[in-house]
Amino acid sequence: MKNENIPYKIYLNESEMPKAWYNLRADMKQKPAPLLNPGTHQPMKAEELAGVFCEELIAQELDNDTAYFEIPEEIRAFYKMYRPSPLVRAYCLEEKLGTPAKIYYKFEGNNTSGSHKLNSAIAQAYYAKKQGLKGVTTETGAGQWGTALSMACSYFDLDCKVYMVKCSYEQKPFRREVMRTYGASVTPSPSMETEVGRKILAEHPGTTGSLGCAISEAVEKAVTSDGYRYVLGSVLNQVLLHQSVIGLETKTALDKFNIKPDIIIGCAGGGSNLGGLIAPFMGEKLRGEADYRIIAVEPASCPSFTRGVYAYDFCDTGMVCPLAKMYTLGSDFIPSANHAGGLRYHGMSSTLSELYHQGLMEATSVKQTDVFEAAEYFARVEGILPAPESSHAIRVAIDEALKCKETGEEKTIVFGLTGTGYFDMVAYEKFHDGDMDDYIPTDEELEIYRSKLPIIE
Ligand SMILES: Cc1ncc(COP(=O)(O)O)c(C=O)c1O
Repeated sequence: MKNENIPYKIYLNESEMPKAWYNLRADMKQKPAPLLNPGTHQPMKAEELAGVFCEELIAQELDNDTAYFEIPEEIRAFYKMYRPSPLVRAYCLEEKLGTPAKIYYKFEGNNTSGSHKLNSAIAQAYYAKKQGLKGVTTETGAGQWGTALSMACSYFDLDCKVYMVKCSYEQKPFRREVMRTYGASVTPSPSMETEVGRKILAEHPGTTGSLGCAISEAVEKAVTSDGYRYVLGSVLNQVLLHQSVIGLETKTALDKFNIKPDIIIGCAGGGSNLGGLIAPFMGEKLRGEADYRIIAVEPASCPSFTRGVYAYDFCDTGMVCPLAKMYTLGSDFIPSANHAGGLRYHGMSSTLSELYHQGLMEATSVKQTDVFEAAEYFARVEGILPAPESSHAIRVAIDEALKCKETGEEKTIVFGLTGTGYFDMVAYEKFHDGDMDDYIPTDEELEIYRSKLPIIE
């Protein structure tokens, strides 16, 4: 074992926890492209978004200039139940790999919802309650966001209606029960409950659903129900803002020991954990104070960054949401049902998309069997059973550490371990039984979806 003065786990004191979220956009010279009204193609105004989203969240969404937003006392009190999350030095993994690299991971799985999603869920529920709403609607893919939101809504006594992507609903009955335990109602999507769900089912009978479909249903439900608004667990600027708590804690912990990472790695579905983890580091990079290599990891079966186009697109399959400029595969794209993990979203955060477009971060894609191989390896060595999504980051962290073994470089690698995989045992089972395959869309398939992108002059 390396003989160093760094503890296995770097914890912060309560007094060292962030008191404000950091808004990365404030330091971007070229701001992310604005959301557009799908009818007029003009930037969405706050009043146009007001029927869909909560007021204070809209203000956060549209604010590209305020660098820090104070975290309300009620949210900080909730954070104290499960935060600060540990920054772990992966000594055991380093030794097993025989790498000179120093590996750290920020572990966000230490709460009942099992992932980082709770960081934004509690904030969004708080603002909904403050506005005097009855409840919120949402979609969930793998189930972590729905679980987190159910917990947050039950804490603030709000009604919570979740549309869960059908294949996850079937694969993960226990996730559904956790949500119901916290009082949420859960509907498999697409469903016959909404107009858009009925339309999608008529066009694609037997579809296993997608996040894009579920978003459309949840938005329709919110705008047609009195006292309800829609909330989203990723992609949006406001979600990245709340998730900055991950990066701010990480940076404070590293600074305590004068550690400067060389490489920062995170998995990317809609971009919220990665956007949160990298926020203060990217801020330094944008201000010219420091440099870091930042890598987004996505599944080869849903490769928005690496094979998508940077264009305006719908955030949902039903085309009811505003248009966002992002790396996208096309809002009709539905990843193969063989793809077990989350990270199934067709698009990407527009903030991260702009940073990637400017060459300020990299992206790579990985095959799911390689992801599960890394997940199992990590579980055996570090003792944590990782979520498949998080395991995308583990895969690339291991690969980078192995490169250091070849070159002898002592790089410092930090990655986001966003959650635990206890509800993903069907996927683990497939992997162990050799039933997991690596479906990767062909260029011809991707072109079909690309050709349907809306044309914005
Ligand atoms: C454990 C976990 N990690 C990562 C993600 C990816 O989401 P995002 O890119 O918004 O962080 C998800 C999404 O469901 C998740 O559940």
